[in-house]
Amino acid sequence: MTSVPNVLITGTSGFIGGSLLADLLSRADGPIKNARIFAAARSDEQVKSVSKLGINVLQVDLTDEKSVLDAVLKNEVDIIVHTAGAILPQMATNMIKALGERRRVSGIETHYIHTSVATMFSEEGGWPYGQVKDSDGSIVEKEKKLGESNPVRKPETNVIVAELGKAQGVTTYNVPVPTVYGRGTGEWRKLSVNIPAVTRASMKLKTVYKFEKDGHPPAIHISDLTALYGAILEKILLKETIPSNENGYYFAVAHKSPWWEVMERLAQSMHARGLVSEPTAKVWPSWEVAAEHTGFPLIFIRAIGTSNGDLVPVNGPKIGWQPKWDEKMYLDSIDDEVQAVLDLDTVKMTLWDSL
Ligand SMILES: NC(=O)c1ccc[n+]([C@@H]2O[C@H](COP(=O)([O-])OP(=O)(O)OC[C@H]3O[C@@H](n4cnc5c(N)ncnc54)[C@H](OP(=O)(O)O)[C@@H]3O)[C@@H](O)[C@H]2O)c1
Repeated sequence: MTSVPNVLITGTSGFIGGSLLADLLSRADGPIKNARIFAAARSDEQVKSVSKLGINVLQVDLTDEKSVLDAVLKNEVDIIVHTAGAILPQMATNMIKALGERRRVSGIETHYIHTSVATMFSEEGGWPYGQVKDSDGSIVEKEKKLGESNPVRKPETNVIVAELGKAQGVTTYNVPVPTVYGRGTGEWRKLSVNIPAVTRASMKLKTVYKFEKDGHPPAIHISDLTALYGAILEKILLKETIPSNENGYYFAVAHKSPWWEVMERLAQSMHARGLVSEPTAKVWPSWEVAAEHTGFPLIFIRAIGTSNGDLVPVNGPKIGWQPKWDEKMYLDSIDDEVQAVLDLDTVKMTLWDSL
């Protein structure tokens, strides 16, 4: 790395990337304070907004291979934390290739932290192996064998990240992210995906709906998630050896999200505010109607709404990460999730647009 390592955070106009950037820039000391942070954003407006933080914001469409290569080489980027597109392989491919080139040109080690989707490790996400620990070194092999057996597994970006990283000599880390909640602290989009989408739909329909089957997938508060990326980044900057490449999964899992209970809490909160007509949740009449009103893509809706998954985080705790939020704090915060939508729903969600 150069004397001051250069770290690029992508998706900084988004909920996760914006919050991560805010967290990293708030550090008063430690290795992250001494790194030079660059942010990537897509549109003129987003660049203007994120630039208020007084850092270098690179305007780049991450699906454009040449733009990514130029951004990495010109700015001598050593480390990328990618939060812009979990399942689309093109962005990851462009960044890993660019970091590979940066390593070849400079002789400096380069690192890539990928954001992926925890649902891939649930039965509804096509994972037939039951409980999984992120320290199990055979995850990539198992994913490779499963291939694109379930629509949720398509495309197999996790396998691409691990294999291309190895081929390019770039050290990779993979952070599977479950349902994230809490208020974002970035400059642009400050809301997550699931609970805001259900809240919007409930306001429109004056009723909170739940799916016909309950689900208890993992969940995490946004501040615990940014702390996990921060813990990985710190270890990289300190040049400590931590699990990486095919061993480099870090499950961002803090507790469960009991969906029916969440929907009942939403119904109580929204009814007390006069936003829905009844204080209890009804069952969606069909998957199609639910998809239409929530905006969840129909092929993913069962996995989003009814999956479970038994993911055990070992690698995060091994490097000192401990989530602060638990299930009780989460359930007690549902009223603030509603308030957050009322306060912060100013930027359209674009997450599903490219699917
Ligand atoms: N939030 C969750 O609960 C959750 C759970 C599991 C996984 N994830 C994954 O984590 C990632 C980030 O989630 P999020 O909630 O932060 O989503 P988000 O708020 O939509 O943020 C994604 C950001 O990436 C930017 N982006 C998309 N395509 C781009 C491109 N080609 N070039 C440059 N920038 C691009 C978007 O810009 P625009 O605004 O211009 O589109 C947006 O600012 C997503 O891939 C998501 O699937 C999220």
